Amino acid sequence: MEDVLRIRDLPNRVGERVSLRAWVARTRSSGKIAFVVLRDGTGYLQCVVPKNEVDEVVWEGVKELTQETSVSVTGEVRADPRSPGGVELGLTGIEIIGGSVDFPITPKEHGTSFLFERRHLWLRSSRQAAIMKVRHEVVQAIRDFFHERDFYLVDTPLLTAAIGEEATTLFETDYFDLGKAYLAQTGQLYLEAAAAALGKVYCFGPTFRAEKSKTRRHLTEFWMVEPEVAWYDSDANMDLQQDFVCYIVERCLERRKPELETLERDTTRLEAVQAPFPRISYSDAVAKLQAEGQNIEWGKDLGAEDETMIATWHDRPVFVYNYPKEAKAFYMKRNPDDPRTVLCNDCLAPEGYGEIIGGSQREDDHDILLSRIREEGLPEDAYGWYLDLRKYGTFVHSGFGLGVERTVAWVCGIPHVREAIAFPRQMHRLRP
Ligand code: 4AD
Ligand code: MG
Repeated sequence: MEDVLRIRDLPNRVGERVSLRAWVARTRSSGKIAFVVLRDGTGYLQCVVPKNEVDEVVWEGVKELTQETSVSVTGEVRADPRSPGGVELGLTGIEIIGGSVDFPITPKEHGTSFLFERRHLWLRSSRQAAIMKVRHEVVQAIRDFFHERDFYLVDTPLLTAAIGEEATTLFETDYFDLGKAYLAQTGQLYLEAAAAALGKVYCFGPTFRAEKSKTRRHLTEFWMVEPEVAWYDSDANMDLQQDFVCYIVERCLERRKPELETLERDTTRLEAVQAPFPRISYSDAVAKLQAEGQNIEWGKDLGAEDETMIATWHDRPVFVYNYPKEAKAFYMKRNPDDPRTVLCNDCLAPEGYGEIIGGSQREDDHDILLSRIREEGLPEDAYGWYLDLRKYGTFVHSGFGLGVERTVAWVCGIPHVREAIAFPRQMHRLRP
């Protein structure tokens, strides 16, 4: 069966008479000649309709067209070097499939909340479609990167009994006779079990955090990819992150130039993303921030402002490593050279996008891990299985999590993560 003809395919059909279905993006008419621009998700197509060369019904039909009407058109494909795809259509026939009266999103400026309330329609705009295509590329690059390096994909549960990152941002739900279940904040703990079975593994799926913050960087549901590698220490973990981030950015530059152009992204900033990335210890970063007048104390996690300032010191992503243990999660390995800190890192994107990756070497000593669980007041019984991994053949291992929306926002150069996912979930947004 022949597949449906798409606008993208038309350059191969110059000189042919074709029919295709699409939506009306815009129209204009001088009274003697009309232009109808169609879109179908693969591109835009200008149809040319000279009044005295088409049937009266066609001319009348074209005059009635409104934005986002779905149509079936027939005509001849002609080469036209000035058109986006290099072709236009000499339209000879048109059939209206579905009318569209007063489409709410017009070329004029609309407010942000107006647009997000109509997100299901807003997605059809060229900018939003470009962002979704970049996201698609980022996701495919993620899968390819790990597949090419012999990682196994392991799907981890979204309903969990154990707490992942921090108790304050858990979504909970009743779970039959077993009490509370929590929506996963991370797949990491399960992935550590899988790493002992398979060596190099990753999980990739949605994660949930009841973030009460309304920042440009936080969603309540976001996608995270998390690799976990047996026998990698913290340094090897950063090497992997560096290769990974370069791979994603390079892939987008290679395959999504038109979309980045639509988004008016300054791609020279992305071309600078080359290994090696600078590495600075948390302690050095804090000293330097203080010297530059930032109000930060040793021991506190870095704030968005601190991260932005650190990023301005370099033209590419930067690693900040070995944070104080109080600022980070319980499972990170104690730093043998400075027990106040843990073997971990954040990867900060340039241009103020902040942390796109959090990673660490994991605590592999049973007794230290148990005491950390107790110190944090976590429910010990929920972690029995996790402690088992340190009881039966413990192993040095490390991993990290990259947030897809923050990465997409950075690659696209858009100010807020909420546009980096088709249907964002935030504290005050649950529909559409
Ligand atoms: O630093 P985080 O919390 O790390 C973890 O969850 C670890 N378990 C990962 C691991 O070692 N396997 O989150 C990782 C990344 C962040 O760097 C950020 O990019 C993203 O997930 N992220 C969010 N993105 C959007 N909205 C939120 N509320 C996010 N919270 C974290
Ligand atoms: Mg983090």
